[in-house]
Amino acid sequence: MHVAPYSSGCGGIVSGIQLASITSDQLIDLRLAFSTYGVLFFRDQNLSPKQHLEFAQRYGKIVINKFFKTIEHHPQIAEVRKEKTQQTNIGGGWHSDHSYDEIPAMGSILVARTLPKTGGDTQFANLYAAYDALTPELKKTISSLRAVHSNTHLYGENGLYRMTDLAEQLGGMDRVGDATHPVVINHPESGRKALYINPGHTITFEGWDFNESRRLLDELYAHVTQPQFTCSFNWLPGSVTFWDNRCTWHQANNDYQGQARLMHRITLAGTPLSAA
Ligand code: SIN
Repeated sequence: MHVAPYSSGCGGIVSGIQLASITSDQLIDLRLAFSTYGVLFFRDQNLSPKQHLEFAQRYGKIVINKFFKTIEHHPQIAEVRKEKTQQTNIGGGWHSDHSYDEIPAMGSILVARTLPKTGGDTQFANLYAAYDALTPELKKTISSLRAVHSNTHLYGENGLYRMTDLAEQLGGMDRVGDATHPVVINHPESGRKALYINPGHTITFEGWDFNESRRLLDELYAHVTQPQFTCSFNWLPGSVTFWDNRCTWHQANNDYQGQARLMHRITLAGTPLSAA
């Protein structure tokens, strides 16, 4: 197994392994690479849904998304689907998966099933590097803050997604909820500090009003999305990505109108997050 940086500031590309038949030694190396890079990219895997599931089960415990449809025979595999007639895509803005849960998801394993001819890349951001590069003043300001994360504005009764042509693919309107987490976490495996807020789900800082929160959140978001902390993954048939939701963000480009895109996602359960 070989892992090389994918871009100067974000991700690692893994070669020399097949996830469908990964050995115990390779799994140890993969855990180390995952902890180092935050997001790993794989080519030419051709995982069947069953193999996708088996790899996920070997890596950790699966947690099922509350809102997405799942695939036939495999309720642990969520569909990230955009039909060619649909305008809106799932995950089209920067976010980390399930940050609205008390115990947010550890990781997500995304497998390409149907790809547009061009477009439909997924972008990633490195929240370790973004945290490290903050000014000492900003680090001090956010050091003891907590933030409120929610999904109600997206999946609730009048949520943004419910107003779009994605609505009929989504369930779970009654399962919406909020959670609060430290803004700077100690990553449970690497021990590194990471910024834990995201544009998709973070609403306010705890105890701050909306506008005051918005100003600082926007400043931090502008910082994270600088090119030195981000990368864009171009999907090919057989590609797989595996990201850590505690130290990365992702967003799916919606630049392929009139074409279909289908991905299968398995989400792995995390542990409670603690402040750095
Ligand atoms: C997601 O947000 O999990 C979907 C990412 C993608 O479709 O590229």
